[in-house]
Amino acid sequence: MRLIQNIGLVLLRAGIVLCQVRQPAISIDSAEIKSGTPLDGFLSYSIEFASFPDFAGNKSSPNKFSDNLLDNIGYLQGDKPYIRVGGNTQDYAIYNANLTVGLNGTVNVTRSPDYPTTIEIGPSFFESYSTWPNVKFSHGFNMGGNHDSRIQDTLTQTAELACKALGTDKLYVWEYGNEADLFATSAQGPVRASSYNESDYVNEWLDGVAVIKSVFRKNCPGLASIDTYKYMAPSFGGVANHLKAPIAWAAGLDNTENIKYFSSHNYISGAATPGVTLQGTLMNHTRTRLSVEAHVDEYNAVHPGEDVPHIMGEANSLYNQGRPGLSNAFGAALWGVDFALYCAALGIRRVHMHMGTDYRYASWQPIETPLASRGTKAPYYGNIAIAHLPLTGGDTEAAYAAYVGGSLKRVMIINMNAYNYTNTNTSSGGSSSMHAVDCGCDGSGGQSSPSPPPPRPARAYSFFVGGGTTTARVQRLYANGSDAITGITWDGWNYNYELDEGRPVRLANVTVGETVQVQNGTLNITVPDSQAVMVTLGVSDETLNRPARKRRT
Ligand SMILES: *[C@@H]1O[C@H](CO)[C@@H](O)[C@H](O)[C@H]1NC(C)=O
Ligand SMILES: *[C@@H]1O[C@H](CO)[C@@H](O)[C@H](O)[C@H]1NC(C)=O
Ligand SMILES: *[C@@H]1O[C@H](CO)[C@@H](O)[C@H](O)[C@H]1NC(C)=O
Ligand SMILES: *[C@@H]1O[C@H](CO)[C@@H](O)[C@H](O)[C@H]1NC(C)=O
Ligand SMILES: *[C@@H]1O[C@H](CO)[C@@H](O)[C@H](O)[C@H]1NC(C)=O
Ligand SMILES: *[C@@H]1O[C@H](CO)[C@@H](O)[C@H](O)[C@H]1NC(C)=O
Ligand SMILES: *[C@@H]1O[C@H](CO)[C@@H](O)[C@H](O)[C@H]1NC(C)=O
Ligand SMILES: *[C@@H]1O[C@H](CO)[C@@H](O)[C@H](O)[C@H]1NC(C)=O
Ligand SMILES: *[C@@H]1O[C@H](CO)[C@@H](O)[C@H](O)[C@H]1NC(C)=O
Ligand SMILES: *[C@@H]1O[C@H](CO)[C@@H](O)[C@H](O)[C@H]1NC(C)=O
Ligand SMILES: *[C@@H]1O[C@H](CO)[C@@H](O)[C@H](O)[C@H]1NC(C)=O
Ligand SMILES: *[C@@H]1O[C@H](CO)[C@@H](O)[C@H](O)[C@H]1NC(C)=O
Repeated sequence: MRLIQNIGLVLLRAGIVLCQVRQPAISIDSAEIKSGTPLDGFLSYSIEFASFPDFAGNKSSPNKFSDNLLDNIGYLQGDKPYIRVGGNTQDYAIYNANLTVGLNGTVNVTRSPDYPTTIEIGPSFFESYSTWPNVKFSHGFNMGGNHDSRIQDTLTQTAELACKALGTDKLYVWEYGNEADLFATSAQGPVRASSYNESDYVNEWLDGVAVIKSVFRKNCPGLASIDTYKYMAPSFGGVANHLKAPIAWAAGLDNTENIKYFSSHNYISGAATPGVTLQGTLMNHTRTRLSVEAHVDEYNAVHPGEDVPHIMGEANSLYNQGRPGLSNAFGAALWGVDFALYCAALGIRRVHMHMGTDYRYASWQPIETPLASRGTKAPYYGNIAIAHLPLTGGDTEAAYAAYVGGSLKRVMIINMNAYNYTNTNTSSGGSSSMHAVDCGCDGSGGQSSPSPPPPRPARAYSFFVGGGTTTARVQRLYANGSDAITGITWDGWNYNYELDEGRPVRLANVTVGETVQVQNGTLNITVPDSQAVMVTLGVSDETLNRPARKRRT
């Protein structure tokens, strides 16, 4: 069994120090420890329904790049990510048996510039479920209806196609309706009256899942049993919207006991929300903590029981698909590490990072479009770092520890003090002036370019980890700064499309194979601003000399 413990709050109280000055080691205060036991495939994805054919491709043209990126994470965390196919566009998808392409989407910029709000899907949409080996999916059925008279037919037709496409091998759960708590108020156009309440929702949900079950009984009987007929729900967009999950649950949402996961959706803020910044909004542990804790409070209020674990069915940095320069920057990757690990520490047992074609916060862009080129994006490197902590601060720092078999195995330190390497305003004193002292721990600052950015500060962390003297392996999530959108590596590995179609490539210009001595049970480690570091304790020399990541062929 694997356990994650958050010692961020301990760090916070102990404060931070520059690398020349070391504080006494931080002892882990058991009162501050929060812990959780993640499910398999902890780091998973949610793919916007309308973008799924782009991400997965189809039988004649599978998307191998996406599969390579999923393989990398699967290799590291032991299971390929679970894929939730859903989001706002699942409630726009209407079935048309005559459609010759998988999906025909029409964008209406008044409703959303980022995804189609009028959608037809055809039989070949379901081919996309068979392009990635060893991946399990959830398919999101349309509940909202988008004011289309074909909604009832769509439900029965897609139920048959989806159950046949997925079968027991590729399915993990179903979903019926996305963010129904916003149906009456949606910014993309309301699909229910303002009187719509939790009882209405529950009645509709129970009716819909009964219809789907009857289709399965006829077409896919193996998926209609008590053990196999399962959902994630309620998939609400927030904790304070038009419908409230505790009321929906009390109104009987799980009356037929077919909810396998209590699914929450979370964004830290909005892409267009005034005042949003990398440091203040995303690279801010306090902000992340408050955001996640609101969902944990809701789950506790719902009290669905031990056998209905809490997951983040859809999450990312800034809703409305993210903001350029923020959601696609390295700082957002560091945020993603902190967010997912804090979820894990609080008992949220799987986290699906959401993405769609052209979305600013996506982990990768699956295809070429006029708006974005195909490629691995900064947030993916944060996903890789999490997968690497096989799960087995002040506002700007957090640390997590992973216990394996009862002993401390790994520590992840995330230094979220922004370091803007394209900031050439030398008189500004850098992005964290309180600590902006060049301690020479990192060689990237202060060279001879005409207007060099301010030196990159680094901070020293000291942990009492117990035990005696041992060697620990050090692996770093690296970029030139929090504003970097390229040149990102995890332990020297790069997963970019242009190098080897997303397969891992070790770069020569990044230091790897670093170790640190734990002396008398004390681990000291220096972390430059805008970097995450994983320390693995008690590794043998033999392990150290082995490559951290085998090349898969
Ligand atoms: C680690 O840092 C602490 C606090 O600054 C210091 O007292 C200790 O000597 C250091 N230990 C090692 C092994 O460097
Ligand atoms: C599909 O095409 C057939 C033959 O043209 C037609 O009869 C049928 O109404 C069409 N179905 C839909 C859903 O458009
Ligand atoms: C399969 O994908 C290719 C590439 O996107 C596309 O050209 C083709 O129309 C798709 N086939 C079907 C049946 O949707
Ligand atoms: C796609 O939908 C639009 C209307 O939304 C329609 O004009 C177009 O003909 C459709 N394309 C296909 C291939 O069905
Ligand atoms: C686009 O959406 C707006 C708002 O719902 C609507 O008034 C308009 O008719 C739509 N445009 C088209 C071309 O459908
Ligand atoms: C929802 O509205 C109906 C009709 O007004 C009412 O009977 C029901 O009690 C309401 N349910 C909740 C949970 O408020
Ligand atoms: C971090 O977020 C908290 C809560 O929203 C806020 O009070 C604080 O000022 C933020 N910190 C920074 C550095 O912006
Ligand atoms: C980095 O600094 C440059 C130059 O001052 C500025 O234009 C840019 O917005 C900054 N980026 C971030 C993410 O703060
Ligand atoms: C540079 O930094 C100084 C000090 O923070 C500030 O007053 C000035 O406006 C900045 N200049 C630019 C071009 O950002
Ligand atoms: C990162 O910094 C190095 C050294 O200054 C430079 O050679 C490299 O081009 C930078 N990378 C990016 C993506 O800016
Ligand atoms: C290493 O090289 C890659 C290109 O091959 C570049 O993007 C990256 O910024 C470089 N990193 C450093 C630290 O110089
Ligand atoms: C470790 O402990 C030994 C014995 O108590 C002591 O002699 C030595 O100085 C300590 N080393 C450090 C780096 O604190």
